[in-house]
Amino acid sequence: MRVIFIGPPGAGKGTQAEVISREKGIAHISTGDILRKNVVEQTDLGKAAREYMDAGKLVPDDIIIGMMEKRLGEKDCRKGFILDGFPRTVPQAEALEELLGRMGILLDAVILFQAPDEVVIRRLSGRRVCRSCGAIFNVRWKPPGEDDRCDKCGGDLYQRDDDREDVVKNRLDVYKRQTAPLIGYYREKGLLVEVDASRESAEVVADIISSVKGSQ
Ligand code: AP5
Repeated sequence: MRVIFIGPPGAGKGTQAEVISREKGIAHISTGDILRKNVVEQTDLGKAAREYMDAGKLVPDDIIIGMMEKRLGEKDCRKGFILDGFPRTVPQAEALEELLGRMGILLDAVILFQAPDEVVIRRLSGRRVCRSCGAIFNVRWKPPGEDDRCDKCGGDLYQRDDDREDVVKNRLDVYKRQTAPLIGYYREKGLLVEVDASRESAEVVADIISSVKGSQ
């Protein structure tokens, strides 16, 4: 299974990718997670990305493309992968196509997570993430365990800086302006699969698995 997840912030791309990657034994590659790790570790990449992320803007294409060329060459991607949050612009999509062509890899599908703004805004305001293992919780839908600690590893939970209301609004605008053009791009290539992401997680997961050829 080699798929791309696109959709607005808070649509559930990371949550559903976590379940499917575990079930199928494939890599879950989240550009947001890679960037956040680099910010915490204060690497050159993290320092370059931080101001864009804090403002809800996209990190420049050249930085992201270089980072993903390296990541897709790693061994765990051979069996399959879910690209969560990449590509996010047409130049990123073109660079990915060129890279996969060079590697002799074909994409199975591009899954479009559809959910109205009110649903994603509500989800993001309740999101909590584990600082140690990255597990995603929600105070309303999937509350964490005792003392607000991670159920999986006992780590600290935190609220992402870019989940503040003003930044969320900006991220939604950026999605509509810069990422939504990818919908037409992948529809034309016959790869687009639209999924109603406002339903329960198990239904969304089942829908994705049944719609990707050969992954059932
Ligand atoms: P990134 O981390 O990719 O953020 P995003 O795309 O905005 O997506 P989110 O992680 O916010 O949402 P999600 O759809 O994964 O939702 P989740 O599953 O967590 O990017 C962050 C920043 O990094 C960007 O703004 C940019 O600056 C930079 N960046 C990243 N990639 C880049 C790129 N390619 N180019 C340039 N810059 C880039 O779910 C949200 C909440 O809802 C959770 O609490 C969850 O528990 C809950 N939930 C999920 N599914 C359901 C459900 N079915 N029912 C009820 N609740 C649910």
